[in-house]
Amino acid sequence: MMNIIDLRSDTVTKPTDAMRRAMATAEVGDDVYGEDPTVNRLEAIAAEMLGKEAAVFVVSGTMGNLISLLSHGARGDEVILGDNAHIFYYEQGGMSAVGGLMAHTVPNLADGTLALAAIEHAIRADDEHFARTRIIALENTHNRCGGRVLTPEYTDAVGALAHANGLMLHIDGARLWNAAVAQGVSPARLAAAADSVTCCLSKGLAAPVGSVIAGSAAFIRQARRNRKLLGGGMRQAGVLAAAGIVALTEMLDRLADDHANARTLAHGLARIDGLAADPTVVDTNIVVAAVTRDDVNAVQVAEALSTRGILLNPLDMQRMRIVTNYHVTPADVEQVLDTFQELMRGDVVAAGGGAYIYG
Ligand SMILES: Cc1ncc(COP(=O)(O)O)c(C=O)c1O
Repeated sequence: MMNIIDLRSDTVTKPTDAMRRAMATAEVGDDVYGEDPTVNRLEAIAAEMLGKEAAVFVVSGTMGNLISLLSHGARGDEVILGDNAHIFYYEQGGMSAVGGLMAHTVPNLADGTLALAAIEHAIRADDEHFARTRIIALENTHNRCGGRVLTPEYTDAVGALAHANGLMLHIDGARLWNAAVAQGVSPARLAAAADSVTCCLSKGLAAPVGSVIAGSAAFIRQARRNRKLLGGGMRQAGVLAAAGIVALTEMLDRLADDHANARTLAHGLARIDGLAADPTVVDTNIVVAAVTRDDVNAVQVAEALSTRGILLNPLDMQRMRIVTNYHVTPADVEQVLDTFQELMRGDVVAAGGGAYIYG
């Protein structure tokens, strides 16, 4: 059987043996009654790691972001966020569809930040013509910007701007753990300025399901109400939370391996004719590589690679996104580079026309 190397995302990771054991033996109760000891423990650990009073376990990163925004804002309120934000791009406009919140986008710079002046400019004056600006949302690491990290100093500056204007700062920290490991700072430090943060357990940390939202005790009470509103109140969810506890207590440090593999990939891809990649912008586990040949596009390259057992997602017709993860070894990285090299040397034969997806 062909060895499949799956670089589409870190969401493809499967639970570790330790997770499966923890799931099988988890103590459980009815979490809607607050009686699942394993969920309660996961939430306490997450709150502590993120430096917040409380946390709540939710089904997904998408649900975490939606609940957070609904819990801060009311219908007609405006959310300032990047034009490449996952919340804006890949979450079906849920905050508008469900919460009546309006997106006010400002350009994401290549490093995943939003210029402070652009944020400031987007904040509405108190005028009856205008929607009320209520929330600023950042993303760390930034998915569509290639896994770039936001620094604590930048995040603090956005937090200060938000709070000086009476706004809430939400961080979509689906991969905040990667940002923390890459910068050698704690997740709590990266979330210090935030009123809410969503972090995923089921991406690089390899848990099968789930995310956590952290914030003040009052905010998390409201978030619990909104989780129930959205149908996300789970019962004996300790079987899932047990894997999340293993994720938070055993899987953080090894993200450095994913980052090293990503850097090796970027260096190798940069040396292949017909491809462009910049290792200096690989902060974490995401590499964006561009196809520079005129006779072939990124979708065709991705299709041709898939027939050779290598899976990745085109970002658009020129660019591919490559995500290292728990199942990808240094030997796999070498195999990927050899396969790319061989493919780009000849005619790239692909069925063509395939769809490209998200994140
Ligand atoms: C930055 C970011 N935020 C949120 C999400 C949504 O997470 P989920 O797929 O668990 O809904 C993702 C998913 O890849 C993401 O990359």
